[in-house]
Amino acid sequence: ARLKKAVNIADLRLIAKSRAHKMVFDYLDSGADDEISLRRGKDAYSQLEMHYKILAGIKPPLDLRTKIFGQDVNLPFFGCPTAGNRMFHWEGETAAAKAAEHHGTMYGLSSLATTGITEIGKIHNGPKVFQLYVWKDRELVKEVLAKAKEGGFNALALTVDFTWYGNRERDIRNDFSIPPKYNLKQTIEALKKPAWTWDFLSHEPYTYACINTEVPADSLAAFVNSQIMPEFSWKDAEWLLGEWNGPAAPKGVVRPEDAKKAIEIGFSTIWVSNHGARQLETSPATIDVLPSIREAVGPDVEIILDGGVQRGTDIAKAIALGADSVGVGKPYLWGLAAGGTEGVIKAYDILKKELDRAMGLLGTPTVAALKKEGPSLIKRRPISSR
Ligand code: FNR
Repeated sequence: ARLKKAVNIADLRLIAKSRAHKMVFDYLDSGADDEISLRRGKDAYSQLEMHYKILAGIKPPLDLRTKIFGQDVNLPFFGCPTAGNRMFHWEGETAAAKAAEHHGTMYGLSSLATTGITEIGKIHNGPKVFQLYVWKDRELVKEVLAKAKEGGFNALALTVDFTWYGNRERDIRNDFSIPPKYNLKQTIEALKKPAWTWDFLSHEPYTYACINTEVPADSLAAFVNSQIMPEFSWKDAEWLLGEWNGPAAPKGVVRPEDAKKAIEIGFSTIWVSNHGARQLETSPATIDVLPSIREAVGPDVEIILDGGVQRGTDIAKAIALGADSVGVGKPYLWGLAAGGTEGVIKAYDILKKELDRAMGLLGTPTVAALKKEGPSLIKRRPISSR
C-alpha cells in the first residue's frame, strides 16, 4: 500500500529505508569518504535551468524511444548493473530484469550479481548489457564472456573506475557482511526489520552466481580486492575487445581525453560515470563533465551517462547536454528494496511520467528533438545568484 502511494523516487527511498536491514540500506545508499561527490552528483542538476520553449504545438503522446548500444528501446533510461541485488529483496536481479522487460528498456547485469547470467537471459528478451570487472583469472573472464554471449547479452560494459574498492565508511562502521553476522548489533538490527529478515532467511542462499557459485559471499570488499586486477591497462582493454567482438563501453569515464582514446582503440560507446560516487571521492559530477566529453568524441559516438539521476528533469537535462541514454542505479534499487519487481516497475513508472512531462513542458516531443535542441535549452544558473 505504501508503494502505491509513493509519489517520487525519494518516497521509494524512505520505504526502502524502513524495510531493509540498516547495513543493507547503507550499502545501497552510501558514497565514498565524506560523500561529497555523492551530494554534488545530485545537486549539480539543480544548478541547471530549463529555458523552455513556448507554444511548441506538441500533441501527446511523446516519443521516448531511443537506442542503447545500438539497440531499440522504449525509454531513454535503464537500470545500471549493480552488485548483490538479492540482499535488497529476495527477487533480486530477476525483479530488475522483469521491470526492464515490462518497460521495454535495457537491463544491465553486474559481474557481482546474485542471479546467474543464463537465468537473466531467459527473463529479459530485450537488449542487455553485461558489466565486467576484470578478474585476475583470464580464463574466468573468457568463461564469463562466453556465458554472456550465450545468454543473449548484446553489449559489454568494462568498469574502469574500480581498480581499488572505494572507501565506504558506513559499511565499515556497520561491519557490513552478507549474510549478516548475527552478533548482538546485527541481530538487533535484524529483529528491527522482520520483513527483510524473514525474506532473507527463507530464500535460497546468497551467492555471486554470475562468476562462480563457490565464491564465499561474506566480505564483498575483501573478495573484490583479492580478485580484481588493478594493473589492467589500455593494452589489456584491447585484448578484451578482441575477445568480446561486439558493442562495448568503458564504464566510468570522466575525462574527454580518455573518451577519445577509448573510441580510438575500438570501444563503440562511452559510459560517463563515477560509479554513483562510491569510488574516488571528489570525482566530478558526471553531468558537469558530459558536455566536454560530447565535444571530444563528436556527435555520432553513443554516450551513456549515469550518476545522481533521480528525476525526469535530470534525465531530460542529461540528454539535452549530450547523452543518448541515462542509467539509474540507486533509484531502482530503492524500488527493489521497497517492494521487489513491483517496486522497480514503480520506480520506472515515476521516472517515465516525470520525463514525459518535462519534455512536454520543455517543448521537445522526441528524444531526437531534445538532443538536437538541448544545448540551447539548458543553462547554468548564474553564480551570483547561487
Ligand atoms: C553500483 N554500481 C556498480 N557498477 C558496476 O559497474 N558494477 C557493480 O557491481 C556495481 N554495483 C553497485 C551497487 C550499488 C548498491 C550501487 C548503488 C551502484 C554503480 C552503478 O552501475 C551506477 O554507475 C551508479 O549506481 C549510478 O549512480 P546512481 O544512479 O546510483 O546515482
